[in-house]
Amino acid sequence: MTDDDDDIVDAHEFHCVFCGVAIEDESSAVMLTATWMPHWRADKFAPLAQDFWAHSACLEKGWKGQWPWEEHILYGFEAGADKEYAQSLEISVARPEDREEIEDMLETAFAEGLRRSYGTDLVDAVLPTISKINPKLLTSGTFYVLADMDGQVVASGGWTLDDPVTGEVIEGVAHIRHFAVHPDFSGFGLGRKLFRHCRSLIANAGAREIRCLSGLNAEAFYAKLGFERAGAVDIDLGGVFLPSVDMRRPVKDS
Ligand SMILES: CC(C)(COP(=O)(O)OP(=O)(O)OC[C@H]1O[C@@H](n2cnc3c(N)ncnc32)[C@H](O)[C@@H]1OP(=O)(O)O)[C@@H](O)C(=O)NCCC(=O)NCCS
Repeated sequence: MTDDDDDIVDAHEFHCVFCGVAIEDESSAVMLTATWMPHWRADKFAPLAQDFWAHSACLEKGWKGQWPWEEHILYGFEAGADKEYAQSLEISVARPEDREEIEDMLETAFAEGLRRSYGTDLVDAVLPTISKINPKLLTSGTFYVLADMDGQVVASGGWTLDDPVTGEVIEGVAHIRHFAVHPDFSGFGLGRKLFRHCRSLIANAGAREIRCLSGLNAEAFYAKLGFERAGAVDIDLGGVFLPSVDMRRPVKDS
């Protein structure tokens, strides 16, 4: 075994510390460092730090967990990608050569996100289409990525003046495109950060309204960003229809 082998962690051997279910897909799990103590040691010793695996979705639910000890004191835990680190990542304009990485991230983010609101068969059917990015977006100059310290794309999103479905341009209207955050980095404000960036550029472009076709899973996210539901819409993804929501908001705060 080499030194490098020591760094390889096989998530399959682990169970989620929150729900207790085996972790089968490492890409939808995070490693947590928990700081804890059995209660009988608490007043004498320093807390212990130990690594655990958790499903990203369980972490987001803020579950308190099924810890392996009957009585313990949990001081807290840190996910590998913590909020401060995530917030320090910078937004840059996406380039055509980023395409493969963006599409990999989209596939992971959509698989995780859509599963919460749609059945597995529908997710499987739409995932290949929804994870593909229109190459025109990558030369538009209005589509962005956030990459981590290793240059790995962890979030994407942008805007266009043309409608994503019809290609039509309506004077004063801009459209949100392909917002997604890798599950390891979701819940840390990256989606909001990307939206703020887009909104200020949309305002500079003179638009008055922002529209977005949101999956059912992301409606609450857009609502937090000030969007309101304008109606339900079934998006045609090559003959498979994805129930979605037409969300809209004025560019300026009302
Ligand atoms: C939807 C998505 C882009 C949100 O990105 P994110 O970085 O996790 O979101 P943020 O951390 O910036 O959240 C901003 C606010 O929205 C809330 N929010 C985010 N996702 C939410 C959800 N699914 N349900 C309810 N609220 C949500 C957050 O709690 C936060 O609220 P707060 O500021 O009051 O605390 C991300 O979860 C994702 O990629 N989902 C899968 C792909 C997808 O569905 N994309 C949308 C395209 S239709």
